[in-house]
Formats: sequence, C-alpha cells, structure tokens
Amino acid sequence: MAAPIQPVRGMNDILPADAPYWARLEAEAGRLLGEYGFRQIRIPVLERTELFSRGIGEATDIVEKEMYTFLDRNNEQMTMRPEATAGIVRAGLSNGLLHNQQQKLWCVGPMFRYEKPQKGRYRQFHQISAEAIGFADAEFDAELIVLSARLWQALGIRSVRLELNSLGAAAARADYKHALVEYFSRHADRLDEDSTRRLGRNPLRILDSKNPSMRDIVERAPVLREFLDTESIDHFTTVQNCLADAGIPFVLNPRLVRGLDYYSRTVFEWVTDQLGSQGAISGGGRYDGLVSELGGRETPAVGWALGMERVVELMRADGVALTEPAPDVCLVAVGNAARRRGFALAESLRQAVPGLVIVLGQPSAGFKAQLKRADRSGARLALILGDDEVASGRIGLKDLRGPGGQESLTEPELVVRLRKAKQPLE
Ligand code: HAM
Repeated sequence: MAAPIQPVRGMNDILPADAPYWARLEAEAGRLLGEYGFRQIRIPVLERTELFSRGIGEATDIVEKEMYTFLDRNNEQMTMRPEATAGIVRAGLSNGLLHNQQQKLWCVGPMFRYEKPQKGRYRQFHQISAEAIGFADAEFDAELIVLSARLWQALGIRSVRLELNSLGAAAARADYKHALVEYFSRHADRLDEDSTRRLGRNPLRILDSKNPSMRDIVERAPVLREFLDTESIDHFTTVQNCLADAGIPFVLNPRLVRGLDYYSRTVFEWVTDQLGSQGAISGGGRYDGLVSELGGRETPAVGWALGMERVVELMRADGVALTEPAPDVCLVAVGNAARRRGFALAESLRQAVPGLVIVLGQPSAGFKAQLKRADRSGARLALILGDDEVASGRIGLKDLRGPGGQESLTEPELVVRLRKAKQPLE
C-alpha cells in the first residue's frame, strides 16, 4: 500500500458536520449585506506581490514574513492573497468601478498567511469582507459596525465585544509615530527583539506587544488620542454617537492599532474571550489612503473582514447547535427488476417533489441489509420494491420512525403523500 499523502500544516478540511454552520454564516451574511446595499464580487486568489507590499505595507508582519510568495513560470512574483481589501480595490480600479462612483462590495473566500498554526490561527483560513469604497462620512463606519452586530445576533453569537479606536489622519499619525520612537528609544534597553525591529520600521505595532515584561512601558507610552486632528475627533464622535443611538455597546481601546498599514481614523475589532488567545473574530476600519496608494484617485473607504473559522467556532461555543439534514426517503429495492424500476422511480420522484432528499440503498445488497442502512441514514421513510411490487405496479411505504407496518401505494398516491410530508419538514 502506498503511504498516505499528508495534509499541509495549517490548512484544514472543512467536513460535512461543519457544513451547516458555514452555510448559515454565508447565508445570513449574504442576506444582511444585501439589505445594506452591498453587492458580491469574486476576485482571484493570486495577485502580483506588489499589490500587497504596497497596499498592506512593507513593514507589516504580513508582508515581512507571512506571505505565500513565489515566482510563476514566467518569473513574475506572485502572492496568494493574505486578505481581500487590496484585491477588491485593485479589481475596482482594473474594471473602472471606482471612477466617480461609490461601491459597496463584499466577497468571501480563502486567504493565506504563513503564520504559526494554533487554535483559531491557520495558514489557509476564510474571510467574509465588506468594503464601502467612495464613502467619507462617519455614518458609514458606524453602519458597517452595526451590520456586523446584527450578524452576530442573527447567528446566535452572544460572547463578543466591540473595541474601537481612531488612528487619526496621516499627518497626526506621523507626529504620533515620532513621539513613540522618541519614547521607546529612551527605553531601548527594555524592548524585546520584535519591538526593537519595529522601532525603526513600524513603531505603532510595539503597542500591540503581548510581552508581559514590556507591559508597563507600553502602558506608559504616549497615547494617540492626544495627537488627533480636529476633523478626526469629530468623525470619531459621530461614529460613537451613531453606535450609541443604535444601542451597540463598545469599549474604547487606545492601543488598538491593527496589523495592516492602510488604516486611517476609525479602527475596530470584535473580540471574544471564548476562543483562547485568537480572540478577534472580525476587524476593520477606515482606509482613506489605499485607493490612491494603488494608483486611483483619492477615495475614502471603510470596511471589515470576519474570520469564518473563528465565527463558526464561536457559534459552537455559544451553544448554537446545527445538524446536517437527514434524507427524507431511502429506496430499498431487491431483485433485478425492482432495481431497475427503483432507479427510475427515485429519479421521477426527485422531479415530482421539489426539495425531496431521496437516496438509494445499496441495490446489490439483500433486503435486511438495505433496511438497516436506510434506518442508519436517518431517513424518515423507506420505499420498498420487490418482485411483488413490480408485478402489482405498487410501491411499499414504511415509516422508519413510526410504529411499524407498511402501506402499499401507487406512484401518483406516493407523490401526493411525499409532497405533503415534505411541507412540515421545511
Ligand atoms: P485582519 O484583522 O487581518 O483584517 O483579519 C480579519 C479577521 O480574519 C481576523 O479578525 C480573524 O478573525 C481572521 N484571521 C486573520 N488571520 C487569520 C488566521 N491566520 N487564521 C484564522 N483567522 C484569521 C483584514 O484582513 C482586513 N482586510 C480587514 C479589512 C477589510 N479592513 C478594511 N476592510
């Protein structure tokens, strides 16, 4: 026997038992996004590396060390997308969707980051992203946040809190960066290796450090709020007022800086304590500079992405129980003539009864084995065909969950019965 092929580390198979959760998440998200005016877009998994190094930022962890990048057969540098925002903006520009226009777009699919795998953190994971491009007003930041709050509610998720911050406009952030560099340089002996590296390239990320030995110097670092420009403060106040009016509680977290460089002003994350260290189920914010960074005109934009694996995990942790649907009917046919008749009957019932789930037993097996299999399939009903039924033109109907016994029906009678049986099941 050949050795089995090993799966790739950090890349998961999503099995049928999980499918109902994924289906519910996609269906509810698609429905809600539609209700807020978002339209779906599908973009390639592969893009030119430059899109992400320019869009996400050279000095971010993602671009520095997490991208799946390779030379294709034409020696061009390609990257498997680590996120969707840059790709959606690229698609908008490539297809002329952003020229003097506003676009609300959403997208779902796999992303790739070469991170150290652990619970809730994978190398292939899935996101649903929502992007409102061409929208400057704070109401749209708030609207996107309210939309996600409604999504959690629709999915039965309760253990989640909203963290909010404002990064201000680019100039304010540059001043703040200066202040941080100055402060952390004064405490250079206390910085760990990661933070020392970040000091030169991306000092804001030092605030994200989880290293307990640095906690006190991080806590005493200058806070961004004191550097914010008036317009950003007004913008942030409006976001908070909208959220308060919508009844969405939030926590201000001045250390929330996010791991991608394109943000300006509002940033937010939905965080849970239920999933261990990977507690962010969704994150996003405003990115007014990205469209121009990628070659378009100055265009304001705001968006978020949720991590589908984490959201599904949280649905389970919050007690949402979804099961796979069992078949309605299993067809048990014994004998050559009955097998032939049974195959045709199953097909004609599929056409006659919309939504009916009907599966064949194992036509080559005996009656008892097939009936056992029918029972184990979870089907409600079994259809029985043997030589007698073929001769009489009737079909045996057995309620597998009922008291026993069997009825004998013609095909038209059976159709009527199954249509009726299907209704309360739906
Ligand atoms: P992000 O915070 O990098 O933002 O990712 C969004 C969400 O994706 C996270 O909150 C997390 O739930 C999930 N996620 C990220 N990395 C992993 C991983 N390795 N394994 C499992 N789940 C993961 C973005 O990607 C931005 N594009 C969001 C955005 C859209 N901002 C504006 N528009």
